[in-house]
Amino acid sequence: MAKMEVKTSLLDNMIGVGDMVLLEPLNEDSFINNLKKRFDHNEVYTYIGSVVISINPYRSLPIYTPEKVEEYRNRNFYELSPSHIFALSDEAYRSLRDQDKDQCILITGESGAGKTEASKLVMSYVAAVCGKGAEVNQVKEQLLQSNPVLEAFGNAKTVRNDNSSRFGKYMDIEFDFKGDPLGGVISNYLLEKSRVVKQPRGERNFHIFYQILSGASEDFLCKLKLEQDFSRYNYLGLDSAKVNGVDDAANFRTVRNAMQIVGFMDHETQSVFEVVAAVLKLGNIEFKPESRVNGLDESKIKDKNELKEICELTGIDQSVLERAFSFRTVEAKQEKVSTTLNVAQAYYARDALAKNLYSRLFSWLVTRINESIKAQTKVRKKVMGVLDIYGFEIFEDNSFEQFIINYCNEKLQQIFIELTLKEEQEEYIREGIEWTHIEYFNNAIICDLIENNQTGILAMLDEECLRPGTVTDDTFLEKLNQVCATHQHFESRMSKCSRFLNDTSLPHSCFRIQHYAGKVMYQVEGFVDKNNDLLYRDLSQAMWKANHSLIKALFPEGNPAKINLKRPPTAGSQFKASVATLMKNLQTKNPNYIRCIKPNDKKAAHIFNDALVCHQIRYLGLLENVRVRRAGYAFRQAYEPCLERYKMLCKQTWPHWRGPARAGVEVLFNELEIPEEEFSFGRSKIFIRNPRTLFKLEDLRKQRLEDLATLIEKIYRGWKCRTRFLLMKKSQIVIASWYRRYAQQKKYQKIKSSAIIVQSYIRGWKSRKLLRELKHQKRCNEAATIIAAYWHGTQVRREYRKFFRANAGRKIYEFTLQRLIQKYFLEMKNKMPSLSPIDKNWPARPYLFLDSTHKELKRIFHLWRCKKYRDQFTDQQKLIYEEKLEASELFKDKKALYPASVGQPFQGAYLEISKNPKYKKLKDAVDEKIIIAEVVNKINRANGKATSRIFLLTKNNVLLADQKSGNIKSEVPLGDVTKVSMSSQNDGFFAVHLKEGSGAAGKGDFLLSSDHLIEMATKLYRTTLSQTKQKLNIEISDEFLVQFRQDKVCVKFIQGSQKNGNIPTCKRKNNRLLEVAVP
Ligand SMILES: Nc1ncnc2c1ncn2[C@@H]1O[C@H](COP(=O)(O)OP(=O)(O)OP(=O)(O)O)[C@@H](O)[C@H]1O
Ligand SMILES: [Mg+2]
Repeated sequence: MAKMEVKTSLLDNMIGVGDMVLLEPLNEDSFINNLKKRFDHNEVYTYIGSVVISINPYRSLPIYTPEKVEEYRNRNFYELSPSHIFALSDEAYRSLRDQDKDQCILITGESGAGKTEASKLVMSYVAAVCGKGAEVNQVKEQLLQSNPVLEAFGNAKTVRNDNSSRFGKYMDIEFDFKGDPLGGVISNYLLEKSRVVKQPRGERNFHIFYQILSGASEDFLCKLKLEQDFSRYNYLGLDSAKVNGVDDAANFRTVRNAMQIVGFMDHETQSVFEVVAAVLKLGNIEFKPESRVNGLDESKIKDKNELKEICELTGIDQSVLERAFSFRTVEAKQEKVSTTLNVAQAYYARDALAKNLYSRLFSWLVTRINESIKAQTKVRKKVMGVLDIYGFEIFEDNSFEQFIINYCNEKLQQIFIELTLKEEQEEYIREGIEWTHIEYFNNAIICDLIENNQTGILAMLDEECLRPGTVTDDTFLEKLNQVCATHQHFESRMSKCSRFLNDTSLPHSCFRIQHYAGKVMYQVEGFVDKNNDLLYRDLSQAMWKANHSLIKALFPEGNPAKINLKRPPTAGSQFKASVATLMKNLQTKNPNYIRCIKPNDKKAAHIFNDALVCHQIRYLGLLENVRVRRAGYAFRQAYEPCLERYKMLCKQTWPHWRGPARAGVEVLFNELEIPEEEFSFGRSKIFIRNPRTLFKLEDLRKQRLEDLATLIEKIYRGWKCRTRFLLMKKSQIVIASWYRRYAQQKKYQKIKSSAIIVQSYIRGWKSRKLLRELKHQKRCNEAATIIAAYWHGTQVRREYRKFFRANAGRKIYEFTLQRLIQKYFLEMKNKMPSLSPIDKNWPARPYLFLDSTHKELKRIFHLWRCKKYRDQFTDQQKLIYEEKLEASELFKDKKALYPASVGQPFQGAYLEISKNPKYKKLKDAVDEKIIIAEVVNKINRANGKATSRIFLLTKNNVLLADQKSGNIKSEVPLGDVTKVSMSSQNDGFFAVHLKEGSGAAGKGDFLLSSDHLIEMATKLYRTTLSQTKQKLNIEISDEFLVQFRQDKVCVKFIQGSQKNGNIPTCKRKNNRLLEVAVP
């Protein structure tokens, strides 16, 4: 239950005041005291409205546990005390998820104030509260693990902070519509690379160098050609190589593990460490002077061992690298000039190479991490940006890097002013709310001093770097003195308006800028060089030639194919451009501020240095911030959401308000009797002066929500009980009706069975009685019938005795006969043979006395079925059968050839005269219908030899034509044909007898032989009959006479040998005899 207790008001159990807006009285002392009081009670977070002030506790506090995360999750920003960075994170995340507003979290403060820690806390809180699932967890893990990697390579111990960020970092975390993380994009800003070669006293190089040497296994170190001893390396400052409370070896393992989680392949990790090792070893290369004959100074590498190892490690050709350290080639318009490097120049080249190698490696790491954590989808993303940039710093010696870092902080202060102070005041004006102007320092003027395109310090530095002639840091300072001399925030020994003109604390080679956070004196030395950021081309080319893919990729400009004579943009202008982009980006997002404050300079817990805090509060403009919030209103909200949130507090507005939202809010506030000075109506928003009022509203809302919940619960419970009751009632009725039915059924069954028993007894008794009566009646009837039958029998017999014997025999006979005949016909009906005329079947005769009937019936049936068969014929078929019938009448049983012809169809035109072009002439000569066209053998009258002729029969003529030429040889009108003779045997010989004295009879009768004799003779017979109405005489005899010219010759058919096969042979024996031998 303890966990469930939620503090409902910011004012409960509060140490000091949780929100500075509520501080009374408000002045610097009370402000600091409040902070101090809270700090002493471990309350390191305090609000100014929605801005969180965070004081670095320098020790771990138990306020970041998962339980704490749960406590702040999904709570209203104002709902909980104590103030916490989680509350701000939750507010930002929910606003992103629920209201679709991109967020940015701006963390500012000086070095060591706790920005990086704060950014990690924000990220870990968001990771803890956003969606879960294997994929989402992996994304989260990768996003979180990018921190240790970048910190190892980009952070270092400084005098102000043991883990100082030496680069600026802005990370966009991308979410989907549900608020689940999809990935992220990291932008890095200008790494302080000078640290690689030289560190101020009391500071260290980047962590990774120490981590490798302390944490890597012997094997691994050996592979990298490194030794554990820090003192072996010139680039590692020795005085503070060990940092208290930092375990470099353990951190190395963490980094390697993180690299693996982020997605670095083993070979990539290996390459990265090789580059780190190479950088470290570069510092050990030393040069000694050597004079050449022509008097030019030249340098030489003292000990080439280190160089050799570097070359082995990086795959660079030793001679190439050696040369790059001794010569400098300048290329101008296709001309190459090589000059030797003196010792100082050689050291410069070496350091430039080391710095470039390291800073490019760092940028590559960021790109590589981005590749891994890139969102995989193209859906619209919501973005939360977290900015953790190096804090404002003032060192003893401040150089170009500090200038850049402080410029960046200056810009951030500017955006803070823009977005909170200025924006706040402007909003009041926009909303038409009465407003007393609050004075605050606007640092725009300092930004302008640095970044103005014409007169800004960066612009002048660029101008100086690009100017021909001798350019030194001093000429740059001179230029500054000329241009910026009158600027109120610029001071130098030479500037006219300097109040410190005679101040010896300002050396000659320095200038001072009065930043928003304090005055900083910059050593002008190195500005030009660092801005130029030159790396001799020989070195970049040597690097490009390396047989090491990572190093090669880091120096793309070393590729001779891509030589670019244009100067690369200077470091200053690059930084200015990227800061401008960043500012633009931040302006599109909803800002959330965390303002980090450093309680002491000793990195110690429990120490609160009032003066130091006071200084930070002043330059951060926190007091002004509170004043602006208090002079104005602590809280504002558009009317609609405000009405939506609090409408349940008033009867008129609950559940629906029909009028305009503003009127609704007015009614609501009147009803709640909120004092008039507590709120103001803007054009589109309600402004609430005091957070107290808001808390009151929230408390009331909470109370009302509970009441509403109770109401809903009440109604729900009532509804549930009612439905349950109604259901039970309904069930009761159903059960009762079923029971009643069952009981009635039982009762009825009993009555029914009793009734049936009684009924059955009665029926039995009645039936038996009836049966007795019926039996008696039946016996009486039977007796009467028997008596009557006997009586009738006697009567009938007596009456019919006289008729009976005379008719009985005949009647029985007739009846029997009739029955038999009937039976015969019925049986015949079932035994009828098929309708085929050639079917010979006929059922056997059953009774002898029906013999003649049976035969007659057979004949009738046969005739009938023949008729049936004929009736089916078409005219053409009829014609064919008539012809066949004719042939049968003429030749059946007379000529042995006949049976063979029965099955042959009579085709007539065997030769297709009309189709064969050979017989065209013949066809033209015969214009009548051709009945027969066939090839026959004509027997030579003189020697009995056969020659082929075409035999044509037309309606009126018989024609013989030459088979080859188709010429007509003889033409005989049918009227002149008197007779046709043939043998009775199986041959096709026949003679056509002509009328004596007719035109064709000159040579005598024709003796022909054909394969279709029967058909020819039949057709000739029928045609002649139809044309001349006379029957043609057909003689069938094995000996007949023919008329050859004047001679009568006897044609005799004899039995011949089988020598010639089946073909008959014909021979003229003498003048009177022609013998045909038939096989
Ligand atoms: N909330 C915290 N709880 C415990 N220790 C903290 C917290 N915030 C900061 N510290 C301590 O302060 C040290 C410095 O903090 P941090 O590195 O965040 O400073 P910074 O503002 O990022 O500084 P720089 O600008 O130099 O990067 C941390 O290493 C840590 O020891
Ligand atoms: Mg940091």
